[in-house]
Amino acid sequence: ITIKITDREGTTHEVQAPTDMAMNLMELCKAYELAPEGTIGVCGGMAMCASCQCYVLNDVDLPEKGGEEEAMLSEAFHVQPNSRLGCQIQITPELDGLAIALAPEY
Ligand code: FES
Repeated sequence: ITIKITDREGTTHEVQAPTDMAMNLMELCKAYELAPEGTIGVCGGMAMCASCQCYVLNDVDLPEKGGEEEAMLSEAFHVQPNSRLGCQIQITPELDGLAIALAPEY
């Protein structure tokens, strides 16, 4: 599937994402090196750091936020109504065409 990701410099990358590797959006951004090492995925995908926060730019159907994601987003900086934690969103076929932008670092 194809996902558009705007990095923190404002450059948009159209990336191919595998749906058969149990990968999440944070891991996808790391795999494509869309943010410097150590600035994304800091907690390892445990919904405890918000370094993977991203803004959802179009209305692709995403899974509902879980309690841990809600809790982290209630404490993070730069949170907007369309904020999600990339590490909490698994890449599935339903995400084809999704567009997200990485939130500022902190
Ligand atoms: Fe830490 Fe997603 S990687 S909250």
